[in-house]
Amino acid sequence: MRKSILLLIGVAILSGACTKQIPQASYDIIPQPKDVQVVEDEAMFFSLNKNTKVYYQEGLQREAQFLSEYVKDILGFPLNLYEFQGFEQDGIVLELETQNFSIPESYGISITQNQIQVEGADASGVFYGVQTLRKSLPAGVKKGLLVHGCHFPCATIYDWPVFAYRGMHLDPCRHFMELDSVKIYLDMMALHNMNQFHFHLSEDQGWRIEIMKHPDLTMIGAYRSGTVIGHNGNLYDTIRHGGYYTQKELKDLVHYAAERHINIIPEIDLPGHMQAALACYPQLGCTGGPYEVWRRWGVSEEVLCAGNEEAMLFAEDVLKEVMDVFPSPYIHIGGDECPKVRWEECPKCQAKIEELGLTDDEKYSAEDYLQSYVMNRMAKVVEARGRRVIGWDEILEGDISKTAVIMSWRGTEGGVEAVQKGHDVVMTPSSHLYFDYYQSEDIASEPVCIGGYLPVERVYEFQPLPEELNEEQQRHIIGVQANIWTEYISSFSHVQYMAMPRMDALTELQWNNPEERDFDAFVERCRKMAKLYDLYHYNYAKHIFNPQAWSDTVAPNLATRKSITLRQQPAEQYSYGGAVVLNDGNLGRGAYNSGRWLGFYGYPMDAVVDLEQPAKMGHLRFHALINKGAWIYNPSRIKVLVSDDGVDFREVAQKDIPISTWEDRDGIFAYEMEFDPVTARFVELVADGHALPEDHSGYGNPAWLFVDEIEVW
Ligand code: ACM
Ligand code: ZN
Repeated sequence: MRKSILLLIGVAILSGACTKQIPQASYDIIPQPKDVQVVEDEAMFFSLNKNTKVYYQEGLQREAQFLSEYVKDILGFPLNLYEFQGFEQDGIVLELETQNFSIPESYGISITQNQIQVEGADASGVFYGVQTLRKSLPAGVKKGLLVHGCHFPCATIYDWPVFAYRGMHLDPCRHFMELDSVKIYLDMMALHNMNQFHFHLSEDQGWRIEIMKHPDLTMIGAYRSGTVIGHNGNLYDTIRHGGYYTQKELKDLVHYAAERHINIIPEIDLPGHMQAALACYPQLGCTGGPYEVWRRWGVSEEVLCAGNEEAMLFAEDVLKEVMDVFPSPYIHIGGDECPKVRWEECPKCQAKIEELGLTDDEKYSAEDYLQSYVMNRMAKVVEARGRRVIGWDEILEGDISKTAVIMSWRGTEGGVEAVQKGHDVVMTPSSHLYFDYYQSEDIASEPVCIGGYLPVERVYEFQPLPEELNEEQQRHIIGVQANIWTEYISSFSHVQYMAMPRMDALTELQWNNPEERDFDAFVERCRKMAKLYDLYHYNYAKHIFNPQAWSDTVAPNLATRKSITLRQQPAEQYSYGGAVVLNDGNLGRGAYNSGRWLGFYGYPMDAVVDLEQPAKMGHLRFHALINKGAWIYNPSRIKVLVSDDGVDFREVAQKDIPISTWEDRDGIFAYEMEFDPVTARFVELVADGHALPEDHSGYGNPAWLFVDEIEVW
């Protein structure tokens, strides 16, 4: 008797929990579908449960399987799949609507009480409709609960992508990423409705794709004997690093991506970034080597010899095998950061310049035109197979074929120029879409990265269609992409942290490109997405969910917001609000380009503050940023001067500061000068910079000086 009462109570609690816990789907997702009409009646919903059947039209079986897998991931049970027989069914129906939907990849979803109908212009459209259903599900409810189903409010949704090319790039060369990790990367892309995976497969620091005709590329070129420690200096570890993908593995990856409606664009970076290949075949370089697979970061001067026919045939062979593996309509042939110092000295390259009749003109050098010769030659090989080449925006320097698609990475200017010259363009400017940059100003709390500052807000603000272009020209901006370079990203978990949630902002630009942006609403939708990240154990950055408060102002002091003038102007790109940045009360934080620092190059920072009336003072303090890899060092000599009339100055303090070494940490440092109290109306701070030391790759050049917030008391 007692036992059965207990049992009854148990059942009551359990069933009570279940009926209360039928969660609701919500269509506020990332990217926000463009046209959503929800029936405003709580009693009107489609009930998804274990008995829900999915009917799929021929050719859409994989999309149906994905839907079932997603429901199982989120709610805990799969769905039953049936081939669609052509008559109305209760349940979820996946079908093509080729008549009414003219935009490729578009889809519509109609949700009534007995049916969810997903119609796509093509299989991709159906796939994105399935993604929308997936993202609408209440992720996170499964935790510790029995979920019997989910209610989808009755609604109609119609949605389409603004850009046909929606890309993410990954560099597995600086740090090798396992194949399984790359598959997860493709899963992340699918979740964000992205369809072009730019796979950067060759670099100075490692060659990653098996090439049958040149096996040493992976036997030797895929491994380096050590890696520079921290930012470039003279310290290296001795840990062998590397790995590569076999052609069989890559073909499998192509299939994996295609199931997710993602095309893989392979990149062989030519003719620069080739040192790993030269380490295998030194005769292909201008000097003949020897070369090592590079252990440091940066841009190697050792490039393919453009005057050597064997080097050109080598590159052509590589591209042919790459095209055998990747059916992509686009083949990326690099073209970025190719120093010309070797070509300038190389008899073969100079003979080639002579043979081709190339000469310097007011815009470009003969060597720039020699690079165009290489790129155009490779483009012909690619086009002979019915494909198109993509290149970084440097390939505009010279005479590149108009058929090449340009990736605008050094800002958007290259993209504008390319469109004006008749190219199609993918926008991927480092200013907004380099996801290897810091995403928080509190860099002391972040994993070390290459530098820069690119919070989610900044990604979300990006306008991919430059105003300088008219509507017709804007149509040649075919897409938007973000890049993840891995010099400072050695694990896949860290890749994920750099990618998300910045990918959320990116997909809103790619899929919707809204004219008006509502960041707060976007963050709310990101919260829902983050539940999926948790579910799939994706690592992601949480800054936008808990904006942290740290002190970023200084106590008011004699100098705060007083009139300030600079005797030497900062470099234009790091001048921001001008001199007032130095005494606006806000502390320098974050990366050098956070807007809170002024950057000086090759001359001292020299600022004069007018305290408005004579004041007694005995201290001056300011901050400087050190990021040695980015050529930013501490000040060398600091001087404080005072004046009663702003004309005649007398020195009250001076200090010499030794140059930071590779053993010292980078970061933000305060420099304080104490002097005998003095009364004066004007105070001047002069801070000289160091020259880059011998063990720095930029040896001989001045170091940058980044300064902020002068305090006087
Ligand atoms: C690039 O970031 N070098 C394309
Ligand atoms: Zn050469």
